[in-house]
Amino acid sequence: MSSSILNAIEQRRSIRTFTGQPVELAALYDIIQAGVWAPSGLNNQPWRFVIVTDATIRARLAEQTTYGHIIAGAPALIGVYLDREAVYDDLKDAQSAGACIQNMLLATEALDLGAVWLGQILKNRETVRRIFGLAENLELMAVLAIGHPSRRDQQSQRKPLAEFIVKEL
Ligand SMILES: Cc1cc2nc3c(=O)[nH]c(=O)nc-3n(C[C@H](O)[C@H](O)[C@H](O)COP(=O)(O)O)c2cc1C
Repeated sequence: MSSSILNAIEQRRSIRTFTGQPVELAALYDIIQAGVWAPSGLNNQPWRFVIVTDATIRARLAEQTTYGHIIAGAPALIGVYLDREAVYDDLKDAQSAGACIQNMLLATEALDLGAVWLGQILKNRETVRRIFGLAENLELMAVLAIGHPSRRDQQSQRKPLAEFIVKEL
């Protein structure tokens, strides 16, 4: 793996405040394209996406999470969905969605944009589905808030590796 990928993985941060500058639709497509290059079980590609830039929809979505201020301040959102009709294994398909989302976050950084993975909104996933006018086979996995970062000095910590490695055999 090239060191630039390792650096991108380590230097990615959740970005929660954005300038008012809109995000080009082409950039949102690039982010989604990176997502769909994620691995998936049987290569079933169970992910689906909703792109939101409309201010009214964003305001309605903001009411569905305690992190509404992030949504309200983000010029673009991408709802990441699982298509239940494409799902073959609940656990593996959810894992595929996670891989897809991480690819999208890294792509966002590569495009000099910022993003945060919003999961708390899942508690209102049914309301979100109605706001988007989606069929019931689509299950919300996350909403990504995306924009031009207003700052890039966020810090994040990870515990030492030794705390995670339970055994070396
Ligand atoms: C499954 C999941 C759900 C998350 N939900 C939220 C959320 O609802 N609101 C939020 O501000 N950040 C959310 N985050 C972002 C985490 O808080 C963030 O990734 C973590 O604090 C580490 O910071 P870093 O991404 O800058 O390394 C979520 C991340 C994941 C993976």
